[in-house]
Amino acid sequence: MSKAPGFQTRAIHGGTVRDPLKSVSPPIYQTTTFQFDSMAEGARLGADAGSGWYYTRWGNPTTRLFEELMAELEGGEDALAAASGMGAISTAVLAVLEPGAHVVSPRAVYQATFTLFREVTPQHGVEVTFIDSVDPNAYKRAMRPNTKLLYVETPNNPLMQVTDIAAITSLARGVGAVTIADNTFASPFNQTPIALGADLVVHSATKYLGGHHDVTAGVIVGRRDLVKRATRMLRVLGPVLDPFAAWLLVRGLRTLGLRVERHNHNAAHLADFLAGHPRVERVHYPGLPSHPDYAVAARQMGGFGGMLSFEARGGFEAGVRTVEGLRIASLAVSLGGHETLVTHPASTSSVGIPREDRERSGITDGLIRVSVGLEDVEDLIVDFDQALRAA
Ligand SMILES: Cc1ncc(COP(=O)(O)O)c(C=O)c1O
Repeated sequence: MSKAPGFQTRAIHGGTVRDPLKSVSPPIYQTTTFQFDSMAEGARLGADAGSGWYYTRWGNPTTRLFEELMAELEGGEDALAAASGMGAISTAVLAVLEPGAHVVSPRAVYQATFTLFREVTPQHGVEVTFIDSVDPNAYKRAMRPNTKLLYVETPNNPLMQVTDIAAITSLARGVGAVTIADNTFASPFNQTPIALGADLVVHSATKYLGGHHDVTAGVIVGRRDLVKRATRMLRVLGPVLDPFAAWLLVRGLRTLGLRVERHNHNAAHLADFLAGHPRVERVHYPGLPSHPDYAVAARQMGGFGGMLSFEARGGFEAGVRTVEGLRIASLAVSLGGHETLVTHPASTSSVGIPREDRERSGITDGLIRVSVGLEDVEDLIVDFDQALRAA
């Protein structure tokens, strides 16, 4: 009986780029340029006609392997790598929009994505409506006849709100708009937005895809025609991925399923522990039945992810003292790597937002965001317990 290969088999064997000398680990084509046999060949490659390699800003075999693997794992027709998550997001957004277009995006998207929509797209004649909730009805109310893009980020930061991807893509399709979904927090192991109708998926590959806090990268996956438009845009804007970074990402992807399984497991156990802790006011984890979006998460996610946040009782001071008292978890921005990282949004990522606005959107003074790593979860539980008790 034949069965489609599973996630880990595809992560290990996916992609067609192979070393002609048959090394088992793929080579790093650390070159900016490629030799032509004739001027005619150079002209053909520069015009994107036929196979072969031209110039690394045009494309590179190591980077291509990463792209092929991502297309495989997300279930997209094609993929395009970028030098950072924002390189991927800004390229994708600018590629799909034309002057006169209108976008709907939640206010609670990654900060630089919010700035892209607030400051950059208006310079290109694109209007954006920000909505205060991730509810499909909020999207629907904000849509206009010229709406061309519905933007989704799920789960989001830092409250792990979950957007019903299928509901949003069906709204978009009804008016001929495109849906772009930021799948950074979930990873394709836990969630595949393309299967739910998304046209493009974007990632900060800096996070779970790389997985070791050692590479900054991004990727766009999805419809071939849109990836082609994004490729033209990327070659002009220029944030291409370095071949060595692509190689690190390929190496990261080989173990993505194993790592995310453990992230899911550790986060679920830590969330349960924190939910019963006397010094914790509230836990935000989509895998807890008490989470407002649990039903949507259970429907569209194969696992609930490694990200959670919680509110330490005692406000700002308790939040700061807790993160400073941790001995295993490190105080640092970013997420998705082997090592547990924590942030205190009220004093870092959300520090520019007025207190009342911050509190209204759920970012309370005691809120702590945790990227749960791959350590032994019993040790993480002991660490959070001692830090909370001493705070
Ligand atoms: C959800 C999300 N999207 C995009 C980005 C931007 O990615 P990068 O820092 O790789 O540009 C981040 C970074 O934290 C993120 O968390």
